[in-house]
Amino acid sequence: MPSWRDHPNAPAQGSVLCAVEDIPQGSGHEVMYGEGIKKLRVVAFRDGETVWAYVNSCPHFSLPLNAKPQTFLISERNQVMCAFHCAIFRFEDGACIDGPAVGMGLEVVPIRIENGQVVIQAA
Ligand code: FES
Repeated sequence: MPSWRDHPNAPAQGSVLCAVEDIPQGSGHEVMYGEGIKKLRVVAFRDGETVWAYVNSCPHFSLPLNAKPQTFLISERNQVMCAFHCAIFRFEDGACIDGPAVGMGLEVVPIRIENGQVVIQAA
């Protein structure tokens, strides 16, 4: 399975994904790279100063987790529900813990926090 890094619009190592403050506490913020059907969608989730980032593509049907822009369904603390068939994923590791994608997970986008910015880093 190809990695997000092979995507033609993948951000380079060292790119700023967003500011930590762009991500609503306990929810997600989406950043898109490129246009049209070839765009790469990345989502960052936040709990306090801890941030995780994933390719915004549910492993069930490869649809984004959100049906509306910047609107993520939070089922419980640090868990997001796919808007399409209700698979639930943990912020902390992207694992699906309930619904039709159990046993699968979101693809990690490695990041670090630097001066309040979420920065793409090497794996
Ligand atoms: S596309 Fe996400 S649960 Fe089906």
